[in-house]
Amino acid sequence: MKDKEIEKLISQEKKRQRGVVNLIPSENYESEDVLKALGSVLDNKYAEGYPHKRYYGGQTYTDKVEDLARERALKLFKLAPKKWSVNVQPLSGSPANLAVYLATVPLGGKIMGMSLTNGGHLTHGQKVSMTGKVWQQIAYGVDSKSEVVNYIELEKLARKEKPALIVCGYTAYSRIVDFKKFRKIADACGALLMVDMSHFAGLVAGEAYPSPFPYADIITTTTHKTLRGPRGAMIFSKIDSRELNKKIDKAVFPGLQGGPHMSQIAAIAVALKEASNPNFKKYAKQVIKNAQALANELMRLGWKVVSGGTDSHLVLVDTWMGGAGISGTEAEARLERGGIICNKNTIPGETRSPFDPSGIRLGSPAETTRGKKEKDMIKIARKIDAILRK
Ligand SMILES: Cc1ncc(COP(=O)(O)O)c(C=O)c1O
Repeated sequence: MKDKEIEKLISQEKKRQRGVVNLIPSENYESEDVLKALGSVLDNKYAEGYPHKRYYGGQTYTDKVEDLARERALKLFKLAPKKWSVNVQPLSGSPANLAVYLATVPLGGKIMGMSLTNGGHLTHGQKVSMTGKVWQQIAYGVDSKSEVVNYIELEKLARKEKPALIVCGYTAYSRIVDFKKFRKIADACGALLMVDMSHFAGLVAGEAYPSPFPYADIITTTTHKTLRGPRGAMIFSKIDSRELNKKIDKAVFPGLQGGPHMSQIAAIAVALKEASNPNFKKYAKQVIKNAQALANELMRLGWKVVSGGTDSHLVLVDTWMGGAGISGTEAEARLERGGIICNKNTIPGETRSPFDPSGIRLGSPAETTRGKKEKDMIKIARKIDAILRK
């Protein structure tokens, strides 16, 4: 690179990434091929619109790239092209969720989503997000004892509030979501069901976590977490008389965005092909085994893991333990000094603040990409214990 300042910072970041244990559950290591597509000449091209219906000339290859990305997305999740549509243009997960609401919920209407402190994402209708200013969030949480979704309470709330859309699939929730129950609840109150599978999309692709496709009307996902692609997002929607797919396409462009990032779409296509390789199934299963090994060892060492374990890639740890331990902020800082990167996180029934919460969120996707197995995760858990007890 001619720009030595940026070149140096990139190489320093590369060294940092290589030198730490990365337990951030929403991060991963993209392949060289994904990075190559991302840094390609496709980034020079304006392609406003959709394949074969663009607002600029010169689309011979960009149309093929986007068609291929869509085809691979449907194939990976075993969806019939006549029944499901996919939009691969959202720039990231937050704009993808915003596009769905814009397409399906009247302004000021009700969106039922999990509260932030219980594990929901900002874009599931939190007040600090645009999604909570334009629409009204009907917040649900987890059961205070089991720390998993209480479907009976959820149904009561849904029947009372009659939201236009129910969102499930979270940011800090480690258990299997019962999509069938969510479908039943959505039907009982006349709501659309949207699953935000951003965190576990790679686990669904690898057949290590239940698929939401048989139950949801709309599915959003980021492409950069367990799916191991570039930063980006996709929106899947059912094709039927409600024309959700057409409304969503319009909401993405021209509703919210201009030209799609074609290099990003090409990189998504590469990642989707990689995820269809049989090795990816092994990866997805190992991600869960590794998270479970981490959670079990931490619990054996006396730490409180929210909900008593994990079914996925994510482990939420209560480091505060009612005042007997340390705050999430302190835990995150101490671990970073010890070469382990994670993030502070609220826990269900949070008594502190989101800026200085009671827990940390750990995850296995990045370290599993680097080849870690259960025995390595047990060692990492012991190191975490030693650092936090100092
Ligand atoms: C469940 C969920 N949805 C959406 C997003 C938003 O994704 P992005 O950061 O790409 O906007 C996240 C990000 O952490 C997430 O966890």
